Amino acid sequence: VVADLKGLKQGQLEIAAVSTTKYFLPRIIGPFCQRYPGVDIALQFTNHEHILNALLENQYDIYILSLPPDSPEVVTLQIMENPLVAIAPREHALAGQVKVPLERLAQEPFIMREVGSGTRRAIEELFSERGLEISVRLELGSNEAIKQAIVGGLGVSVLSKHTLALEKEDGPLVVLDVESLPIQRHWYAIYPAGKQPTIVAKTFLEFLESDTLEPLSKAIPLIDEA
Ligand code: PGA
Repeated sequence: VVADLKGLKQGQLEIAAVSTTKYFLPRIIGPFCQRYPGVDIALQFTNHEHILNALLENQYDIYILSLPPDSPEVVTLQIMENPLVAIAPREHALAGQVKVPLERLAQEPFIMREVGSGTRRAIEELFSERGLEISVRLELGSNEAIKQAIVGGLGVSVLSKHTLALEKEDGPLVVLDVESLPIQRHWYAIYPAGKQPTIVAKTFLEFLESDTLEPLSKAIPLIDEA
Protein backbone atom coordinates (compact mmCIF):
# COMPACT_ATOMS: atom_id res chain seq x y z
CA VAL A 1 0.00 0.00 0.00
CA VAL A 2 1.36 3.36 -0.97
CA ALA A 3 0.66 6.30 1.28
CA ASP A 4 1.63 9.94 1.06
CA LEU A 5 0.92 11.24 4.56
CA LYS A 6 1.99 14.77 5.36
CA GLY A 7 4.44 14.64 2.47
CA LEU A 8 6.03 11.49 3.85
CA LYS A 9 6.21 9.02 1.00
CA GLN A 10 5.90 5.38 1.93
CA GLY A 11 5.84 2.16 -0.01
CA GLN A 12 7.78 -0.26 -2.14
CA LEU A 13 9.82 0.51 -5.21
CA GLU A 14 11.08 -2.29 -7.40
CA ILE A 15 13.74 -1.44 -9.95
CA ALA A 16 15.53 -3.62 -12.51
CA ALA A 17 18.75 -2.17 -13.89
CA VAL A 18 21.53 -3.21 -16.29
CA SER A 19 24.69 -4.46 -14.65
CA THR A 20 26.87 -1.41 -15.24
CA THR A 21 24.50 0.79 -13.23
CA LYS A 22 25.87 -1.06 -10.17
CA TYR A 23 28.60 1.53 -10.23
CA PHE A 24 26.32 4.49 -9.57
CA LEU A 25 22.74 3.50 -8.78
CA PRO A 26 23.16 2.21 -5.20
CA ARG A 27 25.08 5.38 -4.50
CA ILE A 28 22.39 7.78 -5.69
CA ILE A 29 19.71 5.76 -3.94
CA GLY A 30 21.40 6.76 -0.66
CA PRO A 31 20.22 10.39 -0.69
CA PHE A 32 16.79 9.30 -1.97
CA CYS A 33 16.30 6.93 0.97
CA GLN A 34 17.50 9.60 3.35
CA ARG A 35 14.88 11.96 2.03
CA TYR A 36 12.15 9.28 2.02
CA PRO A 37 12.95 6.86 4.83
CA GLY A 38 9.55 5.17 4.46
CA VAL A 39 10.38 3.83 1.00
CA ASP A 40 11.67 0.27 0.66
CA ILE A 41 13.70 -0.25 -2.50
CA ALA A 42 14.45 -3.57 -4.14
CA LEU A 43 17.08 -3.30 -6.86
CA GLN A 44 17.79 -6.15 -9.25
CA PHE A 45 20.82 -6.05 -11.55
CA THR A 46 20.82 -8.06 -14.74
CA ASN A 47 21.65 -7.64 -18.42
CA HIS A 48 19.92 -5.75 -21.20
CA GLU A 49 17.98 -8.71 -22.58
CA HIS A 50 16.65 -9.79 -19.19
CA ILE A 51 15.47 -6.24 -18.53
CA LEU A 52 13.49 -6.23 -21.77
CA ASN A 53 11.89 -9.56 -20.82
CA ALA A 54 11.00 -8.27 -17.34
CA LEU A 55 9.46 -5.18 -18.95
CA LEU A 56 7.27 -7.36 -21.17
CA GLU A 57 6.17 -9.32 -18.13
CA ASN A 58 5.55 -6.16 -16.12
CA GLN A 59 7.70 -7.37 -13.21
CA TYR A 60 9.08 -4.07 -11.87
CA ASP A 61 8.10 -0.43 -11.38
CA ILE A 62 11.08 1.09 -13.18
CA TYR A 63 13.74 -0.28 -15.55
CA ILE A 64 17.14 1.30 -16.15
CA LEU A 65 19.11 0.50 -19.31
CA SER A 66 21.13 2.07 -22.12
CA LEU A 67 19.18 1.09 -25.19
CA PRO A 68 15.48 1.76 -24.57
CA PRO A 69 13.03 0.06 -26.93
CA ASP A 70 12.02 2.42 -29.70
CA SER A 71 8.31 2.11 -28.98
CA PRO A 72 5.47 4.46 -28.04
CA GLU A 73 4.55 1.88 -25.42
CA VAL A 74 7.30 2.95 -23.05
CA VAL A 75 7.93 6.25 -21.29
CA THR A 76 11.65 7.09 -21.43
CA LEU A 77 13.66 9.44 -19.27
CA GLN A 78 17.33 10.08 -20.08
CA ILE A 79 19.36 10.16 -16.88
CA MET A 80 23.12 10.05 -17.26
CA GLU A 81 26.02 9.55 -19.67
CA ASN A 82 27.43 6.05 -20.05
CA PRO A 83 30.57 6.20 -22.21
CA LEU A 84 32.13 2.86 -23.20
CA VAL A 85 35.93 2.91 -23.20
CA ALA A 86 38.74 0.50 -24.11
CA ILE A 87 40.44 -0.89 -21.03
CA ALA A 88 43.83 -2.61 -20.87
CA PRO A 89 46.44 -3.52 -18.28
CA ARG A 90 48.76 -0.65 -17.37
CA GLU A 91 51.77 -2.35 -18.99
CA HIS A 92 49.96 -2.93 -22.33
CA ALA A 93 51.81 -1.95 -25.53
CA LEU A 94 48.97 0.40 -26.56
CA ALA A 95 48.81 2.18 -23.17
CA GLY A 96 49.85 5.80 -23.50
CA GLN A 97 49.59 5.78 -27.32
CA VAL A 98 47.48 8.50 -28.91
CA LYS A 99 44.53 7.84 -31.25
CA VAL A 100 45.09 4.11 -31.67
CA PRO A 101 43.15 3.03 -34.81
CA LEU A 102 40.15 0.78 -34.12
CA GLU A 103 41.71 -1.71 -36.58
CA ARG A 104 44.70 -1.98 -34.25
CA LEU A 105 42.49 -2.60 -31.20
CA ALA A 106 40.71 -5.33 -33.17
CA GLN A 107 44.00 -7.26 -33.35
CA GLU A 108 44.08 -7.65 -29.57
CA PRO A 109 42.53 -10.66 -27.84
CA PHE A 110 39.20 -9.48 -26.49
CA ILE A 111 37.31 -10.29 -23.31
CA MET A 112 33.62 -10.01 -24.08
CA ARG A 113 30.42 -9.84 -22.04
CA GLU A 114 27.76 -12.57 -22.52
CA VAL A 115 25.16 -12.70 -25.30
CA GLY A 116 22.22 -10.52 -24.18
CA SER A 117 24.49 -7.81 -22.77
CA GLY A 118 23.87 -4.28 -24.01
CA THR A 119 27.57 -3.47 -23.70
CA ARG A 120 28.39 -6.40 -25.99
CA ARG A 121 25.79 -5.31 -28.51
CA ALA A 122 27.19 -1.75 -28.65
CA ILE A 123 30.74 -3.06 -29.21
CA GLU A 124 29.65 -5.51 -31.90
CA GLU A 125 27.73 -2.77 -33.71
CA LEU A 126 30.72 -0.44 -33.76
CA PHE A 127 33.17 -3.07 -35.02
CA SER A 128 30.80 -4.49 -37.62
CA GLU A 129 30.00 -0.99 -38.97
CA ARG A 130 33.73 -0.72 -39.59
CA GLY A 131 33.93 -4.19 -41.12
CA LEU A 132 36.16 -5.41 -38.28
CA GLU A 133 36.18 -8.81 -36.62
CA ILE A 134 36.74 -9.12 -32.90
CA SER A 135 38.81 -12.05 -31.74
CA VAL A 136 37.10 -13.07 -28.52
CA ARG A 137 39.43 -15.00 -26.27
CA LEU A 138 37.13 -15.17 -23.31
CA GLU A 139 33.46 -14.54 -22.61
CA LEU A 140 32.45 -13.47 -19.10
CA GLY A 141 29.07 -12.52 -17.65
CA SER A 142 30.39 -9.87 -15.28
CA ASN A 143 32.13 -6.51 -15.68
CA GLU A 144 34.12 -7.10 -12.48
CA ALA A 145 35.34 -10.48 -13.73
CA ILE A 146 36.35 -8.88 -17.04
CA LYS A 147 38.43 -6.29 -15.18
CA GLN A 148 40.17 -9.08 -13.26
CA ALA A 149 40.86 -10.99 -16.49
CA ILE A 150 42.35 -7.84 -18.05
CA VAL A 151 44.68 -7.47 -15.06
CA GLY A 152 45.49 -11.17 -15.48
CA GLY A 153 46.76 -10.42 -19.00
CA LEU A 154 44.05 -12.31 -20.90
CA GLY A 155 43.20 -9.41 -23.18
CA VAL A 156 41.50 -6.05 -23.50
CA SER A 157 37.85 -5.05 -23.39
CA VAL A 158 35.44 -2.19 -23.94
CA LEU A 159 33.34 -1.44 -20.87
CA SER A 160 31.39 1.40 -19.33
CA LYS A 161 33.78 3.98 -17.96
CA HIS A 162 31.79 3.79 -14.75
CA THR A 163 33.22 0.31 -14.09
CA LEU A 164 36.44 2.18 -13.22
CA ALA A 165 34.79 4.50 -10.71
CA LEU A 166 36.59 3.15 -7.66
CA GLU A 167 39.86 2.21 -9.38
CA LYS A 168 42.94 4.09 -8.28
CA GLU A 169 44.61 6.44 -10.75
CA ASP A 170 47.84 4.47 -10.59
CA GLY A 171 46.03 1.11 -10.43
CA PRO A 172 46.51 -1.87 -12.76
CA LEU A 173 43.97 -0.74 -15.41
CA VAL A 174 44.22 2.05 -17.97
CA VAL A 175 41.84 3.53 -20.52
CA LEU A 176 43.25 3.37 -24.05
CA ASP A 177 42.96 6.34 -26.38
CA VAL A 178 41.28 4.66 -29.35
CA GLU A 179 39.83 6.43 -32.37
CA SER A 180 35.98 6.04 -32.50
CA LEU A 181 35.92 5.53 -28.72
CA PRO A 182 34.32 6.18 -26.30
CA ILE A 183 31.06 4.83 -27.61
CA GLN A 184 28.74 7.58 -26.35
CA ARG A 185 25.68 6.18 -24.64
CA HIS A 186 23.27 7.19 -21.90
CA TRP A 187 21.28 5.43 -19.25
CA TYR A 188 17.53 5.76 -19.38
CA ALA A 189 14.82 5.07 -16.83
CA ILE A 190 11.76 3.58 -18.53
CA TYR A 191 8.35 2.18 -17.66
CA PRO A 192 5.36 0.94 -19.69
CA ALA A 193 3.25 3.82 -21.01
CA GLY A 194 0.07 1.95 -20.09
CA LYS A 195 1.06 1.65 -16.45
CA GLN A 196 0.37 4.51 -14.07
CA PRO A 197 3.52 4.80 -11.91
CA THR A 198 2.92 4.55 -8.16
CA ILE A 199 3.47 7.70 -6.09
CA VAL A 200 6.79 6.30 -4.93
CA ALA A 201 7.88 5.44 -8.49
CA LYS A 202 6.88 8.94 -9.64
CA THR A 203 8.84 10.48 -6.77
CA PHE A 204 11.90 8.46 -7.73
CA LEU A 205 11.62 9.47 -11.40
CA GLU A 206 11.36 13.12 -10.32
CA PHE A 207 14.43 12.60 -8.15
CA LEU A 208 16.33 11.22 -11.17
CA GLU A 209 15.28 14.27 -13.19
CA SER A 210 16.07 16.78 -10.47
CA ASP A 211 19.27 18.76 -9.98
CA THR A 212 20.32 16.25 -7.33
CA LEU A 213 21.61 13.82 -9.90
CA GLU A 214 23.97 16.08 -11.84
CA PRO A 215 26.30 17.02 -8.95
CA LEU A 216 26.12 13.43 -7.72
CA SER A 217 27.10 12.02 -11.08
CA LYS A 218 30.00 14.48 -11.21
CA ALA A 219 31.05 13.40 -7.73
CA ILE A 220 31.46 9.81 -8.87
CA PRO A 221 35.20 9.60 -9.49
CA LEU A 222 36.39 8.34 -12.84
CA ILE A 223 40.06 7.66 -13.40
CA ASP A 224 41.71 9.87 -16.00
CA GLU A 225 42.21 8.55 -19.48
CA ALA A 226 45.71 7.17 -19.99
P1 PGA B 1 24.60 -4.78 -19.98
O1 PGA B 1 23.99 -3.36 -20.20
O2 PGA B 1 24.82 -4.93 -18.49
O3 PGA B 1 23.49 -5.66 -20.51
O4 PGA B 1 25.86 -4.87 -20.77
C1 PGA B 1 24.74 -2.22 -20.08
C2 PGA B 1 24.30 -1.26 -21.13
O5 PGA B 1 23.46 -1.59 -22.00
O6 PGA B 1 24.85 -0.15 -21.08
